[in-house]
Amino acid sequence: MSIDGKPIRRSKRRWKVAVIGNIKDVNQPKPEGVPPDAFADFDTMETMDALRAAIETDGHATVFLHADKDLPYALKKYKPDICFNMSEGLGGDAREAQVPALLEMLAIPYTASRVLANGISLDKTLTKRIWRDRRLPVAPFQEFTFGDEPLRPELKFPLFVKPAREGTGMGVDMKAIVNTEAELRERAQYIINAYQQPALVEVFLPGREFTVGILGRTDAKRFSRHPEWYEKDGYHRFPILELDTGNTEGPWIYTNEAKSKDVGPEGNEGFFCPAIVDPELEKKLKHLAYRAHNIIYALDVSRTDIRLDDEGNPRLIEINTLPGLTPGYSDLCLQAEAEGISHTDLVLEILYLAAGRWGMLEPRELEETKKNGK
Ligand SMILES: Nc1ncnc2c1ncn2[C@@H]1O[C@H](COP(=O)(O)OP(=O)(O)OP(=O)(O)O)[C@@H](O)[C@H]1O
Ligand SMILES: [Mg+2]
Repeated sequence: MSIDGKPIRRSKRRWKVAVIGNIKDVNQPKPEGVPPDAFADFDTMETMDALRAAIETDGHATVFLHADKDLPYALKKYKPDICFNMSEGLGGDAREAQVPALLEMLAIPYTASRVLANGISLDKTLTKRIWRDRRLPVAPFQEFTFGDEPLRPELKFPLFVKPAREGTGMGVDMKAIVNTEAELRERAQYIINAYQQPALVEVFLPGREFTVGILGRTDAKRFSRHPEWYEKDGYHRFPILELDTGNTEGPWIYTNEAKSKDVGPEGNEGFFCPAIVDPELEKKLKHLAYRAHNIIYALDVSRTDIRLDDEGNPRLIEINTLPGLTPGYSDLCLQAEAEGISHTDLVLEILYLAAGRWGMLEPRELEETKKNGK
């Protein structure tokens, strides 16, 4: 299917695709000194298998490669045409950029955002500084490297304290909300010591929480298997997902514990998708996610978390440039499902958008391009 009736053409009929990720090993004892939720952002082999199965439906050969120290050798052996990157990386200040950097060095194409965007988005403080500079709304914040820095006057309690560079709710539990200077110092010190990184302190946002997924690029229609999904600007906005905060007593936050459990009384609070929001707020949320994505040079796919402040105004929390892709579980998959987009189509779309950028697809000639004589 295509806009001008011609199917999209691959430069090579069948690609060798390496799915690369970090796997949670539940049987392996955690190394000493790591926090209890270390490696929470790692994937399961079932998720990797689901990605491979989706890619194979399009006639490609796949393999799974661990994103560990042997990866360079595995890549040399398998010689993939393209990699489907899901790697969280191992340590360091920009771990999600490690595998992209290696693949750039080896000149191997890979999916989604490149080195810089993956490095920036893992660092929530840096991301917020960039967004703030471009006048996107964020809660007032301050980074604590030592824990005893003087608190800036615009940071009024209650405050929220989290690791500056983690994901999947790591380091986020009910103690993240602090009401006094003493609680703040204690929590900041805990984060700095346990996670070996700065603590990000923000004004607590008490309002509704949304996550907004986008897919695409200005030239997405030229390489997509589903050009009809994309708006004029080349982007597809998924239906907004709202976390259901209705059943909780006291303030609600999406903790690591909640993220690790299934929806139900003891775990995840549940969600609404599409969220019921008035059209003006919906437009605002989608526009913010689009700007947040582009300002940090994210590519093809991302999911941006946004929460409302005490006056009901949206504030950007963070962007995920490597959103989870576990079928029926990860937010982006739930958002796609809510509008009838299958896991297989979502995965293949991410692959095709990347393949287009790396010259592995012949760009589709668009009808509107021909009409305008461009
Ligand atoms: N300033 C804030 N005010 C209120 N709640 C917050 C704030 N910052 C974060 N939270 C809560 O903590 C949760 C986790 O924070 P955040 O999204 O920054 O972390 P994450 O671990 O990177 O998430 P993800 O799983 O999406 O990667 C949010 O979903 C939200 O519920
Ligand atoms: Mg988040």
